[in-house]
Amino acid sequence: MCGIIGCVSEKDCCGALYDGLKRLEYRGYDSAGIAVLGEKLSVCKKKGGVSALSCFFAQGNTGIGHTRWATHGAPSDTNAHPHRAGKIVLVHNGIAENFSALKAELEGAGECFYSETDTEVIAKLISRAYRGDLLSAVKEGLSRVEGSYAVAVIAEDRPGELVAAKYKSPLVAGKGAAGLFVCSDIPALAGAADFIARAEDKDFIRIGGGRIEFFDENLKPVSRTFFRPQKELFALSVAGGGYFMRSEIAEIPQALGRTLCALGQADFAPCARALRAAKRLFAVACGTAYHSALVFADIAEASLGIPVICHTAGEFRYRPPVIGEGDVLIAVSQSGETADTLEAVRLAAERGAYVIAVTNIGSSSIAALADFCLVMRAGAEVAVAATKSYNCQLLCLYYLAAQCLFFKEEKYPDWFSSLNLLPAAAEEAFSRFSEIDGLADRLKGARAMYFLGRGLDLCTAKEGALKVKEIARVFAEGYPAGELKHGSLALAEEGFPVVCVSTSGRLAKKSENALAEVRSRGGYCALFSQYEEVLSESCADFKCLLPALPEALMPAVSVIPLQYFAYKMCLERGYDPDKPRNLAKSVTVE
Ligand code: M6R
Repeated sequence: MCGIIGCVSEKDCCGALYDGLKRLEYRGYDSAGIAVLGEKLSVCKKKGGVSALSCFFAQGNTGIGHTRWATHGAPSDTNAHPHRAGKIVLVHNGIAENFSALKAELEGAGECFYSETDTEVIAKLISRAYRGDLLSAVKEGLSRVEGSYAVAVIAEDRPGELVAAKYKSPLVAGKGAAGLFVCSDIPALAGAADFIARAEDKDFIRIGGGRIEFFDENLKPVSRTFFRPQKELFALSVAGGGYFMRSEIAEIPQALGRTLCALGQADFAPCARALRAAKRLFAVACGTAYHSALVFADIAEASLGIPVICHTAGEFRYRPPVIGEGDVLIAVSQSGETADTLEAVRLAAERGAYVIAVTNIGSSSIAALADFCLVMRAGAEVAVAATKSYNCQLLCLYYLAAQCLFFKEEKYPDWFSSLNLLPAAAEEAFSRFSEIDGLADRLKGARAMYFLGRGLDLCTAKEGALKVKEIARVFAEGYPAGELKHGSLALAEEGFPVVCVSTSGRLAKKSENALAEVRSRGGYCALFSQYEEVLSESCADFKCLLPALPEALMPAVSVIPLQYFAYKMCLERGYDPDKPRNLAKSVTVE
């Protein structure tokens, strides 16, 4: 949802800004821009990805950069950031929700706008407040803005100084040999900053005179702790070469190994009391993380025998508040910055629930708000489509469910010791990829497809469908196999593709019935199971043998061929898997 970066360096900062933007590009890639301030101000902004700026160079040690995911105004050179008003130049991530009213007011006061963005309104407000003191002007300008923001601001007459501020959008400060930085994300500062500090909501940051200073909402100096970031976040996946998504799938076994190692060393004692006493568990998340939360709900409810209520975070936050003291909320988020999940966490905490975060970024906003945090250590995930983080999230959630049982009944679930098998099973799943190439080739022209499953397989089916929609741009629906004949079977006709995941011995026959119903209407059926007899007895046209694991753990590996299937479908259809249309990696706006 837009990436911002700002730098004050002892040398020219244009290259550092460009490199940072390249690493931030997964936050939005419809336009990008850089402003560099030295003896003069130079601004370059263009529609398209960050590489559209590759020919731009300007001398100057102060600068800001932006990669955009459009909210207000179409992607265009004009709407691209930075935005300028008078001496003020600014980049912004977030949404000024009252921008229409502010714009009308400013137009009434004689201001002219050249872009359609909400950001230009913020630039105007700061510019009108600017009388040589940049920090005060940023504070005054932002005091009118409702919504969310992370901004980085420079003034044409103040080279060597940069002011940033945040509210509900992520912002970190970093220092290293390359200079002093502000940035939306930690991984974008790889190679540039050695120490990072997180800004809190309503913080202001001033960089200048070789220092980074933090201020609270009243501009009173406050201290924020600098730490060395998790080193795996600075190492980008290169395992499969080519696209990040392919590399990140290839890295799943190593990522699971890292997660296992981290979980083995984690101290669960701080959450023992809350988990032991919990009468209900809630799990909230968005997108792919929601599908891992669904798996958790199923597993935990089965082993603990207490209700586990799972909601998408966006729905949870607007429901009547049924959560309170004695409840435990588990918030799952790769980035730890997803706006809806963050607000769900705030709500649960306000109502007295104990909050456990499962995230890839230990220094994220969700981690900071939680009472207890499990960091999954999947490593930096750059592709917008979540892959390895899903597998690692599941591993963390299995572990958490097992700890819950241990705290309540002093025993572990029977599948617990098999968690160690996950990396090897993931590796084994890769050997099926050549078969999947054939399936993707067969189905590349499909206009729609169903992904069917029952029980835990339904979660995998939903995740497979999401991946296909997201990157291959084919309508897909993850659906309970048993529900098909209650309406959806009406779409089955000659060649209509249905993918079925069937890893439960108990439910396999039921899923097979659904496939038979599709097949007898001419549909094309693909079946995934770890049971040879389930495959051999099936009427499916395509059959894929999955690695065998205890059934409870199958979601962590049965999804891998589906992730790869979506990737291959995407390539077959001529799209870039790393840059799905209309999407961005980190959804920091509601
Ligand atoms: O960072 P989060 O895990 O909170 O992100 C949640 C979703 O936005 C994310 O999983 C999204 O659904 C993925 N792009 C799907 O591949």
